[in-house]
Amino acid sequence: MEVVPTAPEVAMEQATTGGVDAGAGDPEHFDVVVIGGGPGGYATALYGSAAGLSVAVVELDKVGGTCLHRGCVPAKEYLETAAVHRTVTRSGEFGITAGGAGGSPTLDFAVSQKRKQQVVEQLFVGLSGLLKGKGVTVFGGSGTLLADHRVRIAGNDGSTTEITGTDVVLAAGSVPRTIPGFDIDGIVVMTSDEFLSLEVLPASVAVIGGGAIGCEFASLLSDLGSTVTVFEALPTILNDCDEDVVRTVARSFRKRGIEVKVGAQLEGHALDPSGKGTVISFGDGEKLAVDAVVVSVGRRPRTEGLLSQGTGVVVDDRGFIVSDPTMRTEADGVWAVGDVVATPQLAHVGFAEAIVAIKGILGEPVVPVDYERVPWAIYCHPEVAFAGLTEAAAREAGFDVVVKKDPFGGNSRARIIGDTEGMVKVVAERRPDGTTGRILGVHMVGPWVTEQLGAGYLAVNWEATADEVAHFIQPHPSLSESFGETVLALTGRGLHLA
Ligand code: NAI
Repeated sequence: MEVVPTAPEVAMEQATTGGVDAGAGDPEHFDVVVIGGGPGGYATALYGSAAGLSVAVVELDKVGGTCLHRGCVPAKEYLETAAVHRTVTRSGEFGITAGGAGGSPTLDFAVSQKRKQQVVEQLFVGLSGLLKGKGVTVFGGSGTLLADHRVRIAGNDGSTTEITGTDVVLAAGSVPRTIPGFDIDGIVVMTSDEFLSLEVLPASVAVIGGGAIGCEFASLLSDLGSTVTVFEALPTILNDCDEDVVRTVARSFRKRGIEVKVGAQLEGHALDPSGKGTVISFGDGEKLAVDAVVVSVGRRPRTEGLLSQGTGVVVDDRGFIVSDPTMRTEADGVWAVGDVVATPQLAHVGFAEAIVAIKGILGEPVVPVDYERVPWAIYCHPEVAFAGLTEAAAREAGFDVVVKKDPFGGNSRARIIGDTEGMVKVVAERRPDGTTGRILGVHMVGPWVTEQLGAGYLAVNWEATADEVAHFIQPHPSLSESFGETVLALTGRGLHLA
């Protein structure tokens, strides 16, 4: 059993005993045992150990989970590669000649893949060191919760052992969903798991699902030179985003040659006998030949093998672990955080839930996560970031709303960097006297907006009014001025915006 020791003396003991073996006496006991070492799990461990608790993490693969190894981090690294490609492609605008023959840059995807992997490895080593430094014990293997807070670990080396926790936190994450007719072969038909390990970029790709992952993949593939078609079953891509944001992304995709088929009905596909590519059938007998298919139709909780009989933990009909707003499951002393619970599947939501769970374990007052107002960040080009209600949702909720939009075209910094696509849109409540009240939603689309959402997120969650936020200054020239200007305009007196 692979064990990352908590301290030198423990390391010594386990080195001499050959690790923690079944039958070696009473199960080793911890204040908290966490099953799953992804963002939800490792944040639970780090926050718990920072609070003085003894913590064990059971992880079947590598700490860091989907986010670090097969999700957010590698995807964003590739999106940065795409951004570098875009910058080099248009360097001539700045009077700089770059690129290969004919002026356009050439891509060595093997180098891109290697760099992506280096970034992942560096962060993995950093996280492992952090856990070790904080005294967290990491068990390599698959954890199953038994009755009475016992956790059985089927070790990656074939051994079986058992540990116990005063509390147990379930953080086993999620896996990609698939759809009938598109079995994953990992070569032609892939999920994000396989796509992020590709050595060669496919020349033509069908992306099934126009959500966060689908749009990020479509964007980066197109920027790096692939021909991309997105199939989305709903009437729009990025269904949960504000309509102005969706329109901006859809327009950008169209301009860049990404074909988006909304309301798409996929029938299946027939692999090319040569093994290279496939032909997708959709709609009314239509066909599309592509080199690769990326299925990004959501993720489902990973609960197989996680729970034995008699734990008292309840799983709903979609496979999510039932928990209350303080992350308590139906079983006393068992908590669940991250993608295994039916809350937004975002790494930072997992971090927040981890803190809630540990505070609950410590018996401290807990403020549950406000899921209606978490920050969302989608790193396609143009980027999307938002918090709070969309304009449509605010109206549906019965608010009398007032809306201001500041296009990046009028922003100095956006002009300087030559990236003026997009806007900041703020949705606020109109008071009965006609003045603007609370800020209900902030929606951004454009350059580096994922880095600009902070002020908007704070405004929405602080339930600040437009007047209160308009008082604060933004640096000039900066992209963040668009948020300041939009809020100023909501007070009835914008500098540039009516
Ligand atoms: P998603 O739920 O965001 O989007 C899936 C899309 O696939 C939906 O628009 C859905 O209508 C569509 N779809 C489902 N079945 C389909 C079918 N048969 N044919 C065509 N379209 C179909 O899921 P996604 O993009 O896979 O992401 C998974 C999770 O990871 C989400 O919860 C997402 O929020 C999160 N995530 C967040 C990111 C971010 O915030 N930057 C990045 C990546 C993922």
